[in-house]
Amino acid sequence: MRIAMVGSGYVGLVSGACLAQFGHDVICIDKVADKVGRLRKGEIPIYEPGLDKLVVDNVRAGRLTFDTSLAEAVGNAEAVFIAVGTPTRRGDGHADLTFVYSAAAEIAEALRGYTVVVIKSTVPVGTGREVSRIIREARPEAEFDVVSNPEFLREGAAIEDFMKPDRVIIGVETNRAHDVMAAIYRPLNLIQTPIVFTNIETAEVTKYAGNAFLATKITFINEIADLCEKVGADVHDVARGIGLDGRIGRKFLHPGPGFGGSCFPKDTLALAYTARQANAPQTIVEQVIEVNDTRKKRMAQKVIEFCHGSVTGLTVGVLGLTFKPNTDDMRDAPSLDIVAALEAAGAQVVAFDPAGMKEAARLMPSISFAESAYDAASGADVLVVITEWPEFRGLDPRRLKQLMRQPRIVDLRNIFEPEELRSLGFAYDGVGRRRPHTATVTNKLLGNDTKISARAPELLGSL
Ligand code: UDX
Repeated sequence: MRIAMVGSGYVGLVSGACLAQFGHDVICIDKVADKVGRLRKGEIPIYEPGLDKLVVDNVRAGRLTFDTSLAEAVGNAEAVFIAVGTPTRRGDGHADLTFVYSAAAEIAEALRGYTVVVIKSTVPVGTGREVSRIIREARPEAEFDVVSNPEFLREGAAIEDFMKPDRVIIGVETNRAHDVMAAIYRPLNLIQTPIVFTNIETAEVTKYAGNAFLATKITFINEIADLCEKVGADVHDVARGIGLDGRIGRKFLHPGPGFGGSCFPKDTLALAYTARQANAPQTIVEQVIEVNDTRKKRMAQKVIEFCHGSVTGLTVGVLGLTFKPNTDDMRDAPSLDIVAALEAAGAQVVAFDPAGMKEAARLMPSISFAESAYDAASGADVLVVITEWPEFRGLDPRRLKQLMRQPRIVDLRNIFEPEELRSLGFAYDGVGRRRPHTATVTNKLLGNDTKISARAPELLGSL
């Protein structure tokens, strides 16, 4: 198949390189000439494990090329993918579709022969129809079909997610377009990937419903973690206990400082907006957005309380700034809220992140940056883990203790073993982890402040 990929950002580049790896001839288009120039030289503008090799291999094999000019690539293509950005629109939180619609208009002018126009960008329901209308209006005689084929790529695991997906969703309305899409994804038949063919609206809703459900799952376990902290329960055991029920599943039940990134915050907002417009408000999703926003802000308070109510004049070492490990992406990262609130409370922040410091320096110009995790711990009055980079798990607590001014850790990703750190003399706080000795439970039902021991769960159960 000859494929044109319009937009060589994160989704376009990963999808283009993976489609080339499937054996198709792919041209990735981008308006930014400098980016195209660098891509041609094998320089990858984003951090994604394995992507550089995939791009270089496929460029060498002659299956992957880059260009700034859309017209020729689209004219020669059997399928044109739209993979441009759909950022959150200022003001109302809806997805900004300007880039999608202008790409559609440009594609319309360039179409030659029957072409399938595939929307890969995350777009609200109704966009596929609108793209179809734009093209039809500009070129009434053009032979084309619009297809919705949402992406489900996790940053840091995007290549695996594309090459070995749980499923592929394709919203398509003619047999001709169905056959083109089936041919594009044929290599996945070898690994028996379910391919769900449905209509365009259903594919569009599926993308948002999937992300909103995952965001809800995370928010749910985060609130359960808060409860665990109050009553002396351990959220990891709770997550395992409920996750072993096949109807619930174990993934996305890891508590933390709240979800961030380029997708969940943006997509939950856009879904809530679309649903209100359609007079079918998604009240659960709206709550998830609010609870998550509040949580990100509240995490700094957790650190302050742990430091006996004040961080004024203290040095806070921060480990991890990106919204999750294995990416340099800082978009909607919980660290942005946490660091800002700690600074506002009078702390000096010294942070280390294996990949995100360049972008973090732009977004948080007032903080200092360390050269390593140990460097960030050096002289710190408290160390706060915000992102669970694998290398942090291997840190030697004895060395951290020697370096820190006060051995205190607030572990917002639960990467350390509380017992181990406490036995070494650290003051330690995680997320939703049972205190080993005494949990103080103020329970109105008991009528007074009552100290409840490690038997808290049983005692509470008997109330
Ligand atoms: C997500 C979806 O997983 C992907 O399918 C979609 O196409 C794009 O959005 P991504 O944003 O790259 O991918 O990251 P993901 O791994 O899903 O994590 C999102 C956020 O949730 C991160 O901030 C992460 O730290 C948080 N998270 C995830 C948790 O706090 N707990 C979990 O158990 C899982």
